[in-house]
Amino acid sequence: MPENPPPLSILVIDPDPRSCQFLGNLFKNKGYITETALSGKEGYILALRDRPDVVIFDPALPDMTGLELTRKLRGDRRTAGVLLIALSASTDSEPFGALLAAGCNEYLVKSPETVDRLMTLLQETDKLMNETQPTRRAKMSQGGVLVVFLSAKGGTGTSSMCANIAHALGETHPERELAVLDLVLPLGSIGPIVGYQGEFNLLEAARKAPEELNPDFLRRIAPPLATWGFRLLAGMSDPEASNALDAGRIPGIIQAYRRAFDVVFVDLGRALSRISLPIIQQADLIVMVTASDLATVTLTQTVWHYLQSKGISANHMYVLLNRAVGLEGVSKSDAEQIIGLPIQATIPYMGANFSLANNQHLPILRKIPTDTAALMIAQVSRQILETAYQNRT
Ligand SMILES: Nc1ncnc2c1ncn2[C@@H]1O[C@H](COP(=O)(O)OP(=O)(O)OP(=O)(O)O)[C@@H](O)[C@H]1O
Ligand SMILES: [Mg+2]
Repeated sequence: MPENPPPLSILVIDPDPRSCQFLGNLFKNKGYITETALSGKEGYILALRDRPDVVIFDPALPDMTGLELTRKLRGDRRTAGVLLIALSASTDSEPFGALLAAGCNEYLVKSPETVDRLMTLLQETDKLMNETQPTRRAKMSQGGVLVVFLSAKGGTGTSSMCANIAHALGETHPERELAVLDLVLPLGSIGPIVGYQGEFNLLEAARKAPEELNPDFLRRIAPPLATWGFRLLAGMSDPEASNALDAGRIPGIIQAYRRAFDVVFVDLGRALSRISLPIIQQADLIVMVTASDLATVTLTQTVWHYLQSKGISANHMYVLLNRAVGLEGVSKSDAEQIIGLPIQATIPYMGANFSLANNQHLPILRKIPTDTAALMIAQVSRQILETAYQNRT
């Protein structure tokens, strides 16, 4: 159990500005993290972005019904577990039976006595959450899900897989905001793959004071890439600069990106550099890119054994066999036997198509949308997101 559990976080959605402010101040004064929204749409966006523990809403919203809001929040994985309290100005504003049936936990009518009831409810929730879900709460308070990509050997296609799976995820889940961080030292390669021209990169980020890397700044400095859809923190572009990098800043940078975006992909490249282990340990999913030649498979086994010794469990591993160098090598089942983990997906050899796409800075899914490899990448992106979310609950 964390020593200082984070305070309960509450989102108030109330179209009446005075009531909204009153409730907001009430909860803030109790030490709860509080946000307020005056419309259903604004509240819904905030709820997905910040995933509060509790949403308190007036069901008489100007832009959507309380029932719609309840269904939307219950239907999204990120907010499905939130405590939902309807706080209505009158008993007949919305049929409360329907709200409760849709998954709303409580229905209260605004009155001085209700405030007491509400505060008791929040205290109980706070206590219960700390007792029953300390790990989940600690994880949720970290922000977006973290997926790291690594390989046991260079040249297995880790960076191209990271970039292409990220692109595919943007296509299949446009509502998720995704950032890709290239942490491969001394030279990053996602920038060259996607044709990134910007100035901001890992070194610049590490030079910022921690408080400067707030969500607003990160959104502004790294808008989604036009063709690829995700936000990129490009890696180092020359080895000299890489030596100047203060690696101690990296955990803070990851934390800042997780606070700003729903999903954070990190290319760690060839596993186990001086920076990678703590990042791997906090990841919700580790995508291990392997190839079918015996040397890579054997090294993958070595890395997996090492990670196991550092407390990583098999359900955090997603082994991706990328046939970057063609078809020769060991079979899939032999590779699974050697590594000691199931191979979740295989990306076929794409030959010149891959280099062509890379040279034109195009995602595979754009270049050859109907190719088996492109369809596999799209499927893998869905599986990865699903498994990463499963691991945090
Ligand atoms: N499935 C594939 N079919 C054909 N070529 C591929 C495939 N996957 C990757 N490649 C090619 O393999 C080369 C290496 O890819 P990439 O740079 O992504 O690997 P990496 O593991 O990140 O390498 P590094 O160790 O340099 O970081 C690239 O030229 C890429 O186009
Ligand atoms: Mg690479």
